Amino acid sequence: MNAGDFRAVMRRFPTGVTIVTTLDEGHPKGFTANAVASVSLDPPMVLVCVNRQARSHPLIAQTGKFCVNLLTLEQEALAIRFATHGERDPFETLTYRIHATGAPVIDDVLGYLDCELAEEHSAGTHTIFLGTVVACGYRDGAPLGYFNAGYRDFGCRIP
Ligand SMILES: Cc1cc2nc3c(=O)[nH]c(=O)nc-3n(C[C@H](O)[C@H](O)[C@H](O)COP(=O)(O)O)c2cc1C
Repeated sequence: MNAGDFRAVMRRFPTGVTIVTTLDEGHPKGFTANAVASVSLDPPMVLVCVNRQARSHPLIAQTGKFCVNLLTLEQEALAIRFATHGERDPFETLTYRIHATGAPVIDDVLGYLDCELAEEHSAGTHTIFLGTVVACGYRDGAPLGYFNAGYRDFGCRIP
């Protein structure tokens, strides 16, 4: 078992792309994430695996709030922006709204899951944050995909 083989296998697993948002003393924060999964329907729960090095990691743990924003095909530039560890605020010029928890819901996303932190589990370099979904929303459109280390058009849309 080596890290290269592990990466090679995971590159073969297609996913959607999200921006997980939270708050830093009232200011919006977020990062691009695809390690997201549905966990439970009753109660509705999702998980997100967050690197302990990510700037949002302590913020999710402290505020107990996060929102999973599912990106559309048209939002690839946002995925790139929120995956870049820089000085520039990725929320600059971005419009968003606050719904239930206070974590930002980015305008025009395909769907969102606004969560209260329920549990956290340490796993290697990451923490698995489990959230109870307290509000959600969705619209029609095409999802942004990720496969073999690149953003993809999976050629599908709702409806
Ligand atoms: C497609 C894609 C998916 C990613 N998924 C995750 C993820 O699930 N969890 C995570 O901690 N980082 C993930 N990252 C990395 C973070 O987006 C990146 O490290 C980001 O810069 C972290 O935010 P920060 O710079 O504010 O610390 C992903 C990056 C890309 C490009």
